[in-house]
Amino acid sequence: MEATTSLLDAAAVGDLVLLDPLTENSLLHTLQERFRRSDIYTYIGNVVISVNPYRSLPIYTPEKVQEYHNCNFFAVKPHIYAIADDAYRSLRDRDRDQCILITGESGAGKTEASKLVMSYVAAVCSKGEEVDKVKEQLLQSNPVLEAFGNAKTVRNDNSSRFGKYMDVEFDFKGEPLGGVISNYLLEKSRIVRHVKGERNFHIFYQLLAGGSAQLLQQLKLRQDCQHYSYLNRESSGLPGMDDAANFRAVQDAMRVIGFSPTEVTALLEVTAVVLKLGNVQLSSNYQSSGMEACSIAEPQELQEICELIGLDPSMLERALCSRTVKARDEAVLTTLSVPQGYYGRDALAKNIYSRLFDWLVNRINTSIQVKPGKQRKVMGVLDIYGFEIFQDNGFEQFIINYCNEKLQQIFILMTLKEEQEEYVREGIQWTPVEFFDNSIICNLIENSKCGILAMLDEECLRPGVVNEDTFLTKLNQLFATHKHYESKETQNARHIMDASLPPQCFRIHHYAGKVTYNVTGFIEKNNDLLFRDLSQAMWAAQHTLLRSLFPEGDPQRVSLKLPPTAGFQFKASVATLMKNLYSKNPNYIRCIKPNETKTAMLFTPELVLAQIRYLGLMENVRVRRAGYAFRQLYGLFLERYKMLSPRTWPRWAGSDREGAKVLLAELAFPPEELAFGHTKIFIRSPHTLFDLERRRQERVAQLATLIQKMFRGWRCRTQYQLMRKSQIIISAWFRGHMQKNKYKQMKRSALIIQAYARGWKSRRLLQELKSQCHRRAAATTIAAYWRGYQVRRAYRRYFRSGASARLANFIYRRLVQKFLVGLRRNLPPLSVMDRTWPPTPYKFLAAANQELRSIFYRWKCTGQRWLMASVPSLQQPFQGEYLGLTQNPKYQKLHAVAKDKLVMADTVRKVNRANGKTVPRLLLLTTEHLVLADPKAAQPKTVLSLSDIRSVSVTRFSDGLLALHLKETSTGGAKGDFLLVSDHLIELITRLHQTLMDATAQALPLHIAGQKVENLRYD
Ligand SMILES: Nc1ncnc2c1ncn2[C@@H]1O[C@H](COP(=O)(O)OP(=O)(O)OP(=O)(O)O)[C@@H](O)[C@H]1O
Ligand SMILES: [Mg+2]
Repeated sequence: MEATTSLLDAAAVGDLVLLDPLTENSLLHTLQERFRRSDIYTYIGNVVISVNPYRSLPIYTPEKVQEYHNCNFFAVKPHIYAIADDAYRSLRDRDRDQCILITGESGAGKTEASKLVMSYVAAVCSKGEEVDKVKEQLLQSNPVLEAFGNAKTVRNDNSSRFGKYMDVEFDFKGEPLGGVISNYLLEKSRIVRHVKGERNFHIFYQLLAGGSAQLLQQLKLRQDCQHYSYLNRESSGLPGMDDAANFRAVQDAMRVIGFSPTEVTALLEVTAVVLKLGNVQLSSNYQSSGMEACSIAEPQELQEICELIGLDPSMLERALCSRTVKARDEAVLTTLSVPQGYYGRDALAKNIYSRLFDWLVNRINTSIQVKPGKQRKVMGVLDIYGFEIFQDNGFEQFIINYCNEKLQQIFILMTLKEEQEEYVREGIQWTPVEFFDNSIICNLIENSKCGILAMLDEECLRPGVVNEDTFLTKLNQLFATHKHYESKETQNARHIMDASLPPQCFRIHHYAGKVTYNVTGFIEKNNDLLFRDLSQAMWAAQHTLLRSLFPEGDPQRVSLKLPPTAGFQFKASVATLMKNLYSKNPNYIRCIKPNETKTAMLFTPELVLAQIRYLGLMENVRVRRAGYAFRQLYGLFLERYKMLSPRTWPRWAGSDREGAKVLLAELAFPPEELAFGHTKIFIRSPHTLFDLERRRQERVAQLATLIQKMFRGWRCRTQYQLMRKSQIIISAWFRGHMQKNKYKQMKRSALIIQAYARGWKSRRLLQELKSQCHRRAAATTIAAYWRGYQVRRAYRRYFRSGASARLANFIYRRLVQKFLVGLRRNLPPLSVMDRTWPPTPYKFLAAANQELRSIFYRWKCTGQRWLMASVPSLQQPFQGEYLGLTQNPKYQKLHAVAKDKLVMADTVRKVNRANGKTVPRLLLLTTEHLVLADPKAAQPKTVLSLSDIRSVSVTRFSDGLLALHLKETSTGGAKGDFLLVSDHLIELITRLHQTLMDATAQALPLHIAGQKVENLRYD
């Protein structure tokens, strides 16, 4: 309960609403006491007051971030993180766009506070590659913009010289998507002039200190700040600020944001050009007409600038030293005096730089912008230059203070006036609290008809001689009686002697104090004109970036219309900003500067008291104490808290107001804590709201548990159903699969069994068949044996009976055969004289051998005689057919008689036994007959049956004579025997004998006669 203790600590209450007694002094002392304890943050309700400690405190650690993450605003020690967290949660959970308004004078810690808010939001929102990239880009825009837009002033070493409003855009989950940065009126006069002890914009010093030798050479710069007249020659460096390291940080940041190396180079080149322009020196000379003219004193710098931007030096020289004036459609080139020349040069440098700064902001926006179409929630962070009171205040201070006046107006409107008006509107009993309403000052400056800015514009546009005197006179006339306006003239009219107000000045009583403005330079700065020759020269440059900064330099786009004045533009952009801020839920951080010397932990009560006064903190506390800490439309209130009562949860049927009443009655809060307006419910103390919120959180947790329970139940059921379904499917598939497998196995088994059974059957059949075969073979064998046996038995008798004879016959024949074959092989020579003869091998062949010997010898002798008688028939081979019966058609009839029984056909001569004459006859011997035919007629003359032939006789001589002796009983035999002469006698007798043997199985008896054929019968 440290936080609560801190809030309630009587000596240093954390919330000034709890201050007792409430006086300026007690408020101041509380702040001082808290400051002493290093508690730099204090609340007034939900407004955070931050007192600059000017030293680093250990209260921004990641642990602190965790401590404040999702904290209850009033339950923790006051901290800037608490307001950041509250705003972020309100944006994320309640879908309300937020803006964080950081106000305070220069050096009070606004920029630091804005960075702390940004870093806190970046730390607590979710992480992820894309989100981290966006966060980095958003955070890294700070060092770049600070380098180009911040500078050391007498009040602040890192003073923002431009106004910045950054819209960070989130998605519905609260993740950053990107952002948009708006910048307001850069104090560009600082480029060319700054008060002693101050510095120009940081980037120049950073570039010279941190740029590498190569980069500086490329940019044609020297490292020495003293060399550049736009830079402070006395104090270029700053204690505690490392320009070189910062330059590297800027380069890194640009890379993170997405600047290409070319873009970075172009940016630095233009920066270098601005710096170098300050060194362009002009010298005066006189023209022949006696008019003063100016020229470039030292062309080197100009030359280098032109090399950097790709421009003809003569063109820039002409633009710097002369001016084209249009007189009656005629362009006349007039020379410029040296001061005019310098004025043009400085105007150019200021314009280049301020346009470059606008380009830079746009370029960053291009990188961080969110794609259109996404639904976003916005958190705006406003860090605008603080209220300034210098010794000499010019146009810039006037503008800056006007802006701060507007922000104070918002604060007054929203926290004081609006609040009180709301109580009245809602019918809540209310005692009005006095406060200072600065609308009158805002009106004095911005009134579109007779405001100071409108008068300035009027004076700038007025033809004729224009100067600040007429402008001041006009103001004096208009605001002679205005409570918040003073000048020497109005003072004089009121007989007031005031030496502090010089004649050339006017004084405004701002909410934060009286500021005296010197009107010198007001018109020029408001006009913010640049000679057209200069913008045309810049447009003519080849440097793409520089050229793009001066679109009006394009001769084709020449416009005679005057551009809007700086004051007008600023007023318009402030109006837009105000509209933007009004549309969002405001969160205030009011920064207080504790001392003028930037000293750590030094608290100057007078200085702080002044700020307490002009910030209206007393009124703020009073309104807060008298009023109610919280209010909300009944509908929204009921929607948020209806779960706290069973009567309103989940739905309330009646009106929202009634519902809220029922709900709060049930929660039993003390009646003084609540007020029921017409449309809104009001809750007096934050504790009640805190209690309500706590109860809601508990109830939400219960409901969340319930929802979780239901959801988990539903999810589990759904999952169970899904699992069940899946299980059924899986088991169905599994069973199917199992059955398939089983079936396959069964089939396989059946097939195997079948195969075995078939095999077995087949084998059995085969065996059967084989045994049948064997049986059959056995039967056959047995039968064969049996038959053999029978046959052998049957024939054994016959075989045995003739066996010896047969064997003997066989042996005998074999022996005879062997004997005869041996004899044939060993026949003795055929000589008659040789009477050798092989001896007989076997005794039983001795007689045969003797007989064969004598036959052989006789045959040798006969053969010898026949040889000598030349027996042709022996020499001739037996032909059988000598007539050619088949070929000769003449013998067709004879052929028919013989048919296929023919044995021999030959020509013979028949001897007439009576006269011994011979007649030719054809002889045909068949198997049955012997036919004699007349050769001419080829007709058979005599047909003898072979059986009729009794015998034949031949002579011993080779006379071819053959006597055929016929049986007396034969028909042919009646005529007597036949006497034939044949050339083939031996063949004829051989054949006749053979045929007769075949036919009758009787040998033909042959007689060989000595002298003559004997026993020849004559008919
Ligand atoms: N919370 C803080 N803790 C430590 N030092 C701080 C804190 N806030 C501010 N400072 C110091 O005060 C200096 C000035 O703060 P900062 O630049 O934020 O002022 P500012 O209000 O933005 O001024 P300006 O209006 O001139 O821009 C910082 O440079 C820093 O040294
Ligand atoms: Mg600042």
